[in-house]
Amino acid sequence: MKITVLTLFPELFEPYITTSIIKKATLQSYVSIECINIRDFTLDKHQRVDDTPFGGGAGLVMKAQPIMDALDHVRTPDSHVIYLTPVASTYTQVKAKELSTHQHLILICGHYEGVDERVLSMVDDVISIGDYILTGGEVAAMVVMDSIIRLIPGVISSESIISESFEEHLLEYPQYTRPEEVRGMKVPAILLSGHHANIEQYRKEQSLLKTMKYRPDLLLKAKLNEKDRKFIQKHVNKVEK
Ligand SMILES: C[S@@+](CC[C@H](N)C(=O)[O-])C[C@H]1O[C@@H](n2cnc3c(N)ncnc32)[C@H](O)[C@@H]1O
Repeated sequence: MKITVLTLFPELFEPYITTSIIKKATLQSYVSIECINIRDFTLDKHQRVDDTPFGGGAGLVMKAQPIMDALDHVRTPDSHVIYLTPVASTYTQVKAKELSTHQHLILICGHYEGVDERVLSMVDDVISIGDYILTGGEVAAMVVMDSIIRLIPGVISSESIISESFEEHLLEYPQYTRPEEVRGMKVPAILLSGHHANIEQYRKEQSLLKTMKYRPDLLLKAKLNEKDRKFIQKHVNKVEK
């Protein structure tokens, strides 16, 4: 997979790309990442990328021409072009999985008051990472890149991905590691029992309890069997909010 980021601040991506799992994924050629400076595509001598909004109002709007020309420069028939913007539906793990199947993603990062609306005529997708306003799309682009790169087969173990939160619309069960006791708090005994069926059942129940507490909305989409439903009914009034 290739990911191209169009941004006014390519330097923001350097530490992110050269650290931890993303660094490993690029070194092992699972993904190649290029950051293109939109300012390099301006045509005026001051390299101006923004201007005041038609109709008046606060702030500055990113001009269409440099972004459109940058897109022309990097786009191929395989490209899927995404604009990061709060004016979109919210990003999910389902969307991350869908995007991880593309050969080439182009992520456009806005800044200031956003981009000239006509840029959207060249875009395949719009993504918001949540109901809040960031100063620019760079952090949102990193969120999207990170969630996609770890789904590329080989980047991390497939077993890790299968048991994660949002798989089957449930949040993940609690995890523990050595030592068995920390500040008087012991690891649940069942996890030390070596009894795999009981551990699996315990984790499923913990996963249901976490989801009931923090994201009850997900339970409507989760595939629940009769045993799960009975467990939920029994505990529904006991879960602390
Ligand atoms: C200050 S914001 C512009 C907000 C815009 N005036 C509005 O009210 O919708 C500047 C840029 O940050 C990015 N951005 C801000 N919040 C975002 C979010 N929740 N998800 C994705 N990108 C976001 C977008 O690229 C946007 O163009």
